[in-house]
Amino acid sequence: MRLLVTGGAGFIGANFVQHVLATHPEDEVVTFDLLTYAGNLANLEPVMTDPRHRFVRADVADADAVKAVVEGVDAIVHLAAESHVDRSIADATVFLRTNVVGTQVLLDAARRAKVGRFLQVSTDEVYGSLGPTGAFAEEHPLQPNSPYAASKAAADLLVRAAHRTYGLDALITRCSNNYGPYQFPEKLIPLFVTNALADEPLPLYGDGCQVRDWIHVVDHCRALDVVLRRGRAGEIYNVGGGNEHRNIDVARRILATLGKPATLLRHVADRPGHDRRYAIDASKTTRELGWAPREPFAAGIAATIAWYRAHRPWWEAVKSGAYRDYYERTYGARLRAASAEGRP
Ligand code: NAD
Ligand code: TYD
Repeated sequence: MRLLVTGGAGFIGANFVQHVLATHPEDEVVTFDLLTYAGNLANLEPVMTDPRHRFVRADVADADAVKAVVEGVDAIVHLAAESHVDRSIADATVFLRTNVVGTQVLLDAARRAKVGRFLQVSTDEVYGSLGPTGAFAEEHPLQPNSPYAASKAAADLLVRAAHRTYGLDALITRCSNNYGPYQFPEKLIPLFVTNALADEPLPLYGDGCQVRDWIHVVDHCRALDVVLRRGRAGEIYNVGGGNEHRNIDVARRILATLGKPATLLRHVADRPGHDRRYAIDASKTTRELGWAPREPFAAGIAATIAWYRAHRPWWEAVKSGAYRDYYERTYGARLRAASAEGRP
């Protein structure tokens, strides 16, 4: 197969490109990525000299650039997105351009070039928030609560419409929170690991009792691979790790693993519209495609913490420059308020 992977220089995309090239010796991959703040060619370093891999720097919302790469492609795996909830709360504009307009541009190009399959990589956040029990199945209504989640839900509906209206062979995965190597340190786990390594405070939103269902990124990549090759057109497949943990427990585990003091934990002002709990029912994906997550959370998080410890130059480079302005905008006032009130 000849695959076009959008967003392949980001966290999940880079893991997916490496996974495909390692497990399918007959496949070729074109990585299509704008290299925004979240994209990093260092994430693709292990495959940059592979003759089966080619990198194209361009924007998914640029119809001419997209048209130029889709010719002769068997399938598109669409991961390119603005992906961070906090950034979408500060300004949703680029989320609409990339996540919504960009998806429609790709769908139109895929249809015109008769691309065989379109896999939309989506998120459990489109389903909204859960109470203390239950889990999202594929039929759960779309009730996104952040501009990020709303933009992903809009994109999912455009994918559905392209399938129903034009018969495009398109399908959707919705996955829970990923963790693992190459994750940009604005997301909970890499932010807290790298802050702890630098003896900086860990800014925990609100009471820290929000629950996420964590999945190792390689388990997500394995799911994308089976859905791509064996999923039924027009279907939605949920993907989850079956590892529900409260944020405060994840934070404590990180500090304990690194031998850092609990005093680094800082309760700061909550994220507006903060979803309380996500949990995924992935039984359809298991039943139809035989996929199941393999990595236990305890082993996966320990390996991930070790990866960040061993790759300090990677995250120090990523955390310099424009990231510092983002960090001050997002956390500066919150952290100052927490310490003025003497909050732990
Ligand atoms: P990421 O932010 O690490 O990477 C996104 C990539 O997309 C970057 O390489 C960036 O340069 C690229 N990109 C952004 N705008 C672009 C544009 N206009 N044109 C081309 N490339 C562009 O994100 P991630 O965590 O790897 O997530 C990848 C996908 O998986 C997203 O669609 C996200 O919604 C979805 N997802 C993520 C998670 C998670 O836990 N991280 C869970 C479920 C689904
Ligand atoms: P995040 O990694 O941003 O993923 P998502 O919002 O897509 O689930 O956040 C995971 C959880 O961690 C979420 O409940 C918000 C919380 N969180 C904090 O408490 N502090 C932080 O600095 C960040 C980035 C997240």
